[in-house]
Amino acid sequence: TRVFVSRDLAAKSVGADEVAERIAAAARTAGADVEVVRTGTRGMLWLEPLVEVETPEGRVGYGPVAPEEVDGLVAAGLLDGAGRSEGAYLGPVEELPWMKRQQRLTFGRVGVVDPRSATEYEEHDGLQGLRRALTMTPAEVVEEVVDSGLRGRGGAGFPTGIKWRTVLGAEDELKFVCCNADEGDSGTFADRMLIEGDPFVLIEGMTIAAYAVGASEGYVYLRSEYPDAIEALTAAIVTARDRGWLGEDILGSGLSFDLQIRVGAGAYICGEETSMLESLEGKRGMVRAKPPIPALEGLFGKPTVVNNVLSLATIPTILANGAAAYAAYGVGRSLGTSVFQLGGNVARGGIVETAFGITLGELVNDFGGGSASGQPVRAVQVGGPLGAYLPVEQFDLPMDYEAFAAAGAMVGHGGIVVFDESVDMAAMARFAFQFCAEESCGKCTPCRVGAVRGVETIDRITAGVDRAENLVLLDDLCDLMTDGSLCAMGGLTPLPVRSAVRHFGKDFGS
Ligand code: NAI
Ligand code: SF4
Repeated sequence: TRVFVSRDLAAKSVGADEVAERIAAAARTAGADVEVVRTGTRGMLWLEPLVEVETPEGRVGYGPVAPEEVDGLVAAGLLDGAGRSEGAYLGPVEELPWMKRQQRLTFGRVGVVDPRSATEYEEHDGLQGLRRALTMTPAEVVEEVVDSGLRGRGGAGFPTGIKWRTVLGAEDELKFVCCNADEGDSGTFADRMLIEGDPFVLIEGMTIAAYAVGASEGYVYLRSEYPDAIEALTAAIVTARDRGWLGEDILGSGLSFDLQIRVGAGAYICGEETSMLESLEGKRGMVRAKPPIPALEGLFGKPTVVNNVLSLATIPTILANGAAAYAAYGVGRSLGTSVFQLGGNVARGGIVETAFGITLGELVNDFGGGSASGQPVRAVQVGGPLGAYLPVEQFDLPMDYEAFAAAGAMVGHGGIVVFDESVDMAAMARFAFQFCAEESCGKCTPCRVGAVRGVETIDRITAGVDRAENLVLLDDLCDLMTDGSLCAMGGLTPLPVRSAVRHFGKDFGS
């Protein structure tokens, strides 16, 4: 029997390692022929540690399983997928409402396969995208990505294929593919889970990108806060080289491409693409002015694809199944699926991959089950610390780049952080400025100085000092930061601030 327990960092933090060890020990004691396979996570974090057992009817789940419950569950028949009367029994995992309502394309293998096994990767449709891409011309690959409608999943939503077209069209002997895995946004964890749960798909996506634009070297900029992801990707790169999926003459096609990991040192601003390039070049992470865009003058001044983990990890499924199959999902100009991340004060937190168009309310209530505290939900912040706060009145907003922009908000990297009634929104607005003041690279004045002035202004408003005048001043400051900042750090900080004032004015004494 094969028994699956996640080795994802989130699962380990609630005892998955011990659960796996105890299952192996119980199996030995019982003389049962059991293989404990460590996978990524299905993303149902409230059920971790989740134990899955292979049965003729598919995998059945038990969760959450505390280490001390393992012996009892094994005695009740867990190793046979039996023991169904036990409290932790969940039934077939794929049939759980949380799983069934999703369309897992990018995350198709995460939680299913052993992320260290190249053989399992191939058995579960791995490399099909790369193999097909290698039968096409680079320009055809680029156009396939354009036609799929894929937009940058890091947050800005720029069409990935158009970016690649620019790099393909740039004449140079040396080009790079850089994967941004700095994932600094609070409330986001999809990049990490993808790398820990299916690292080969990122390697395959980067290799396809390299072929499409004519790049020979790749870098993954991975944050130091993700030691397990660093380990998983390092191991996968070694295996991929052994298998001929990286290096010279990839899959006998004549393509040469290799990858290296660079570990960041914890600065939020290094997630901004030009700052990341500076850091990759060995310099301090300071934002560069654009233009020139990295697509034309990126790493070491060479044409460079800079894409987020999820954008690159989605490329293999697009190439394997065709642009039309991917573009069949979604709404308007937000095509395909997105990986939403539920966190904060939410009953059921985790990963939800669905087509764009699902509403915010469906994600927070149907998937998330409302707040963890049981108190009514008051606000959600979508798109990281630079994203807007939305009240429950806007829960019918569809997850769609344009619909969010029209509502003065942004989808961003897909993080959704839930707050209940106890939240003080003036404190959250103050935090936005404080965060900006701390993480600003300091290059431009609206951000470097504006963030500090913002904290002071909110302090005066909440202290009741010249409230009306200071609210006008705050508005003026937000205009200045939006219009005058060099990058999204200073430029987007007004988003959480203004949305908090607009929707939760009572917390500012209005
Ligand atoms: P941007 O709109 O300036 O650029 C988006 C991308 O398109 C960049 O890679 C840019 O180089 C590229 N681009 C623009 N014009 C192009 C052209 N003609 N040809 C080829 N490429 C072109 O946005 P930016 O500043 O890169 O990102 C801001 C976003 O980052 C925010 O909306 C926010 O959601 C997100 N963000 C994500 C974080 C995370 O942890 N994932 C953290 C902080 C912000
Ligand atoms: Fe640096 Fe802030 Fe200016 Fe961005 S907006 S360049 S982080 S000072």
